[in-house]
Amino acid sequence: MKLDGKVAVITGGASGMGAAQSRLFVEEGARVVIGDIQDEKGEAVAAELGASVVYTHADVSAGEDLQSLMRSAIDRFGGLDVLFNNAGVALAEGEIIDCTEELFDRILATNLKSVWLGMKYALPAMVEAGGGAIVSTASIAGLRALRHEAAYGASKAGIIQLTRVCAIDYAERGIRANCICPGGILTPLIYDNPGRGGRRDPEELATQLADLQPIPRAGQPTDIAQAALWLASEDSSFVTGQAIVVDGGWTASARTPSRRRR
Ligand SMILES: NC(=O)c1ccc[n+]([C@@H]2O[C@H](COP(=O)([O-])OP(=O)(O)OC[C@H]3O[C@@H](n4cnc5c(N)ncnc54)[C@H](O)[C@@H]3O)[C@@H](O)[C@H]2O)c1
Repeated sequence: MKLDGKVAVITGGASGMGAAQSRLFVEEGARVVIGDIQDEKGEAVAAELGASVVYTHADVSAGEDLQSLMRSAIDRFGGLDVLFNNAGVALAEGEIIDCTEELFDRILATNLKSVWLGMKYALPAMVEAGGGAIVSTASIAGLRALRHEAAYGASKAGIIQLTRVCAIDYAERGIRANCICPGGILTPLIYDNPGRGGRRDPEELATQLADLQPIPRAGQPTDIAQAALWLASEDSSFVTGQAIVVDGGWTASARTPSRRRR
């Protein structure tokens, strides 16, 4: 049990990678507070996982929601050891001239400001406890330019830099901060996303990802959950300020796939 007795907050835990992380963290002995805006799905994940998990409605772009999310962990489970800043959106942006200011602001608030807010409101409890681990979900889009993803890519690159600054500011106080850069992972974000192309056949998408990624299969939410577990646990106790790429080798390739996605 790598997280025995630990308390974790996971944002975006109602779906995809966050739901997989919640399941794995509970298997590894953690108690988990899930924050999301998809209440029905979040409640269902919590019900499936039993008394070690609570679901709380929290919009990660709102500071007061993140404050109450951290408070729920402390009130319900007595502490806060791990924060998983995972919630995010990917929306059809088009080229820079096509993207509205409102859309840009929404993507940055949901993907980047949320991570800063999560850190800001989780750190006091971690400092008081003398340690903690913060893991955030960035993306290979924060490392490579992907077509028509200027706001998304900027938000994910921002997470990588926030992670580094958080890591060096809090290292001496026993708090580590790292992020994960997933490649193409088969979750509703890419196959059932009304804000970006709508419903697609997951099997067809899995085949396309298998063709694209050097390891010839689609990434699965559990691939990310395993990396998150390592970063959250003592197994990575000398690792901080890093962006760990989990992409089946996509970014190792000299040739960035240039297929137009919308
Ligand atoms: N799927 C991929 O290929 C991929 C690749 C790289 C990075 N990512 C990142 O992984 C993270 C998880 O995404 P996923 O693929 O599991 O997708 P997903 O859509 O299955 O899960 C994202 C979750 O975030 C929640 N969310 C969205 N906006 C929110 C808000 N304002 N407040 C609270 N919760 C909110 C959603 O309700 C959803 O439950 C995201 O940050 C995404 O950008 C995904």
